[in-house]
Amino acid sequence: MSNKTSKLFSMFVGPKGENLDLLSSLIVYGLGRHKKWRTSFFPDDPSLYPPGQTLFTDDEKEIHHAFDELLDRLESNIPFFHPRYAAQMLKDPAIPAALGYIMTMLINPNNHAYEGGPATTEMELEVIDDLLRLVGFDSGWGHLTSGGSLANLEALWAVRDLRKKGKVLFSVGSHLSWTRICNILNIARFKEMPVDKHYRMDLNALESELKRGETMMVMANFGTTGCGAVDPIEDILKLRKKYGFHLHIDAAYGGYVKALMYDADFQLLPFKNVGSALTRYVYRQGLALADVDSVTIDPHKHGMMPYGAGSVLFRHENLRQAVLNSAPYTYHVKEKPNIGTYTLECSRPGAAAAGTWLTHKLFPLHRDGIGMVLEKTLGTAQAVHDAMNQLHNLHPLTKPDLDVLCFYSSPGNRQPKKISAVNKRTFDIYKNLSVENPKAPFILSKFVIDEKSARTILPNTEMDEDSFITMRAVFMKHWMLMDSENPYFERFVQQLELVND
Ligand SMILES: Cc1ncc(COP(=O)(O)O)c(C=O)c1O
Repeated sequence: MSNKTSKLFSMFVGPKGENLDLLSSLIVYGLGRHKKWRTSFFPDDPSLYPPGQTLFTDDEKEIHHAFDELLDRLESNIPFFHPRYAAQMLKDPAIPAALGYIMTMLINPNNHAYEGGPATTEMELEVIDDLLRLVGFDSGWGHLTSGGSLANLEALWAVRDLRKKGKVLFSVGSHLSWTRICNILNIARFKEMPVDKHYRMDLNALESELKRGETMMVMANFGTTGCGAVDPIEDILKLRKKYGFHLHIDAAYGGYVKALMYDADFQLLPFKNVGSALTRYVYRQGLALADVDSVTIDPHKHGMMPYGAGSVLFRHENLRQAVLNSAPYTYHVKEKPNIGTYTLECSRPGAAAAGTWLTHKLFPLHRDGIGMVLEKTLGTAQAVHDAMNQLHNLHPLTKPDLDVLCFYSSPGNRQPKKISAVNKRTFDIYKNLSVENPKAPFILSKFVIDEKSARTILPNTEMDEDSFITMRAVFMKHWMLMDSENPYFERFVQQLELVND
């Protein structure tokens, strides 16, 4: 087995828990170290516990009972860890992510102020440096957040307070957080831009809107939630030169994909050496990330972390000043970084920083690190797309930019006559391949497209219903393409053949 393949097995718990023994032995080892650390603090202090006793019999029964109830309830979850689950951006964390998080959680540092988490504040700074380098910012700053929505909110908050006025523009395909954030920040002048046939922001529409007057921020996606579309960032940068605005990129889901563009020395690879996972178009938008003004990027999506780990990155120091705060009861360590002085959230888990740090250490943000995982996840979406071209009644919505693939059902290769017929056929597939079916061989989700975007994508189809239903497959786990006698990718295609009637 190659080194790469062995890493793709050994760093994960595995769909059948094949590697739980490793996780368990590492946790036991870590707990031993943790105990030593606790006892080394004033080692001469006697224990408060009665000699030889930790739990008392009745309490032991009680904790077991309650714990079993919890485990029972957890087992009623949908198996997010499994390659047969491809509905949402959910997957189990990598072993280093879980390990870093669990061990740190026992100490429970708070990365708000340096004094609340000195070690994990340092780790957060290192992790942010990794992400700044990934994006391509030479300088800049950033911090971890509880997730992508919070990171987006903070970016727009800082820009609003710095620029004071102007519109905010983003595509109709953007994450739901954007309209909410505009409402929270009392920004009435926001507008959703239409998408083109690739479900990317329509550049002509954007320029027409820019011509109409002052724009504070354009927000473009490096991977939309619905179908993974990458907006034309390179061209939007040209518009920024002409019209002047802050360009924020929501790369909450897609940002880590840029790791495929670096070699193991973190040198940018020319396109010809990047491999087949990235199209030239996506590669160019990845390059363009280096020139944007701010970026959201979530370790708890492609970064393989448990939830509670997003991030926001800014290229310019002045935005940091816009959100600066102070307080009389904290930030006492002046000569060290107090990340909380520049964040909207106060308490933030040091565990998220530690989990991300350990994951980046074992999966550095380059082609031979986390890129090994991404090669498989993006490769799956491309392979399913290509296989679908052999199926006459299933049609990809777009050629996937990243690793989300949407498709719909319609007989033959002609454009469907009526959207109602497409919706009915596609919804029948959804009933079979989704959480609606307790025995679903694969669990996918839906992506429901608004009427206007549907008209762009299917211009010759009569819109006799007000939306266009597509199936959505999120291939964020590498297992689908792992070699085995019966790879999940092939099983998935067999299922598609069955619903291709
Ligand atoms: C592109 C994009 N932006 C923002 C978010 C919001 O992230 P979170 O759920 O971590 O708040 C998501 C979530 O899926 C997303 O896909």
